[in-house]
Amino acid sequence: MHSFSRASAGAALLLALGSSQAAAVDWSSVSPKTVTLFYPGQASWEWVLTPSDHSGAQRFREGKNCKQCHSGEEREMGQRIVTGQKLEPRPIAGKRGSIPVDVRFARDAERLFVRLEWPEAQPSEAPRMNPAAAKVTMMLSDATVVEATRAGCWSVCHDDAADMASAAPGSTRHKYLPKSRQALSRSGGGDALKPAQELERLAASGMFLEYWQARLAHNAPAVTADGYIFADHEEKVVGPLASAEANFENGRWIVVLSRKLAVGSPTHKDIVPGKVFNVGFAIHDDYADHRFHHVSLEHTLSLDPGAADFVPAAQ
Ligand code: HEC
Repeated sequence: MHSFSRASAGAALLLALGSSQAAAVDWSSVSPKTVTLFYPGQASWEWVLTPSDHSGAQRFREGKNCKQCHSGEEREMGQRIVTGQKLEPRPIAGKRGSIPVDVRFARDAERLFVRLEWPEAQPSEAPRMNPAAAKVTMMLSDATVVEATRAGCWSVCHDDAADMASAAPGSTRHKYLPKSRQALSRSGGGDALKPAQELERLAASGMFLEYWQARLAHNAPAVTADGYIFADHEEKVVGPLASAEANFENGRWIVVLSRKLAVGSPTHKDIVPGKVFNVGFAIHDDYADHRFHHVSLEHTLSLDPGAADFVPAAQ
């Protein structure tokens, strides 16, 4: 996998730091919220926006967000899709439709921490697509990325990405934001990028999604990767500024991801008071890759009490 070795080396270095940092958080004092991640199949940004495919499309275009219609339905949606009733031409026998994830956020003066806990998958009949037994990812963005405020992870999930419905056979096209392309059609934005100068201007204005990822194995420490998604075919692993540590206990993964609140990096968001951020979560388990994952709807995060779905508990 691209950039894997670079990310591994950096992550190993950060691991020792990570443990002492996360040990400072008293997680038993932070109550969890359960976020249900569901299997999305080939439900791309273009699919959700097309009225003849998705009956929520018109209302979404008019301003209603995904969560306003679908909160509480994640289990049923995932079950319909993972069994191939819709949006999944290659259902995998034995794969679950959804994953209940307990999510807790905490912060101290310097760092933001997110703790994710979920039950490991029963092995399915899927072939191994990735060396990691599981990967857990949090994406983070702010109001600059309007599509992510409306639809979270769907802002980067396009019909022409690898394994999606409009992908050319063998295509390795990765995630991208709509504003990186000259135009989007029902099959996505293809390779027609905006001129380089315009892309640079947009990226400098904060037009990107940041992500933190932990790649998990049963017999080795977690490997951290972080990066951003905007225009390129491949996600750019630029970190790790984030660090991860993972434990596997009683059939459950417990992963803590963290990074400094403010990093002053052009490819990372400074997490400061007075702003509302968007977060989305994804888990690739059972050695899955690409779209064969589970994702959350869009959620908000803020350091200001009462301002968002998640407000990190101060330590
Ligand atoms: C106005 C309400 C509404 C909004 C907003 C909305 N949807 Fe839907 N969505 C529906 C309805 C109704 C269905 C079931 C029928 C269908 O597939 O069209 C549906 C179906 C789906 C399905 C197929 C799974 C299933 O159980 O049928 C997915 C996936 C989905 N929506 C994702 C999204 C995403 C992602 C967004 C935001 C980008 C979104 N929806 C916004 C109403 C909505």
